[in-house]
Amino acid sequence: MSSVRPAYRHFLDLSDFTPQELRALLDAAQARKKRRRNPDTQKTLPQAQPDSDAPLSGHMLGLVFGQASTRTRVSFDVAMRQLGGEVMVLHRQDMQWERGESMPDTMKVLSRMLDIMMLRLPDHNHLHIFAANADIPIINGMTSFSHPCQVLADILTFEDHKGAIKGRKLAWLGAGNNMANSWVHAAGILGFELHLACPPSFGVNANIRRWAKLHADKTGAEILFHDSPAPAVDGAAALMTDCWLSMGDDPKTAAQRAEALKPFCVTADMMGKGDDPIFLHCLPAHRGEEVSDEVMAHPRAVIWDEAENRIHAQKAILLWCLHLLA
Ligand code: CP
Ligand code: NVA
Repeated sequence: MSSVRPAYRHFLDLSDFTPQELRALLDAAQARKKRRRNPDTQKTLPQAQPDSDAPLSGHMLGLVFGQASTRTRVSFDVAMRQLGGEVMVLHRQDMQWERGESMPDTMKVLSRMLDIMMLRLPDHNHLHIFAANADIPIINGMTSFSHPCQVLADILTFEDHKGAIKGRKLAWLGAGNNMANSWVHAAGILGFELHLACPPSFGVNANIRRWAKLHADKTGAEILFHDSPAPAVDGAAALMTDCWLSMGDDPKTAAQRAEALKPFCVTADMMGKGDDPIFLHCLPAHRGEEVSDEVMAHPRAVIWDEAENRIHAQKAILLWCLHLLA
């Protein structure tokens, strides 16, 4: 058998990983994060100052956006600069792709000009078309199906505040959306207890439920689906939610979603239950919808740490894609 390994690998979904690979990503993110903080003063380096080893010096990252972004865009940009590389942002509406150039042709050209590329596109199939035609690593910066970069940062945040995730209980409250799907993947691979409380009309899709059933047995994960919040919240070490209407959802469903999702709003009362739960939200948040004002301001709402951890997680992802994860 040849020992030659491909020069790069794509980061498309957490379901593609082994537990060891995911653990290596988390450890690398944590190690680099720690190295930027002075242990005596607790001060961190200025954001654009490269890490001392600057492992991606000379590399060019392209960020392609077909949808809006604040965190994903800024965290990848800062992460790449900290790794010593350069970044270019491309918006779909400014590209010839928008005027009919095919995805394969677009990707073949970009493969000759960039070293690595992140895409945020609503259609998961489009992400796969780009990946299949790429000669460089492709990163899923979120589709309507999944948001693996965010969930990696969220696990990092969970472990910063609550210790090792394996065997712990986490609760998802709200829509069965892209974030919920990536959480199911993470639980199935890493082996923790994930309780998803969703209204039946906007629950987790059948394919993801099937995936959960198949994988939970392998890693000892427990992935349970509920149609009310109480059994999910009880004993949970983290409460998590997301917007009622995702960017890829049909806006015509907004009123129906609001009606069905109202009982799943994360409240201060829920924060009082469970195992001193932290609150996680990928943001942007909609106070008074999926989460109350009080919870957003709660001392265990670690949402700003979570947002910062996007930078540290992206660095591990970029290095993993190029086989440079030390
Ligand atoms: N959480 C997240 O992905 O945020 P943005 O949409 O701002 O990138
Ligand atoms: N579920 C949300 C996440 C935004 C970061 C969306 O897809 O719009």
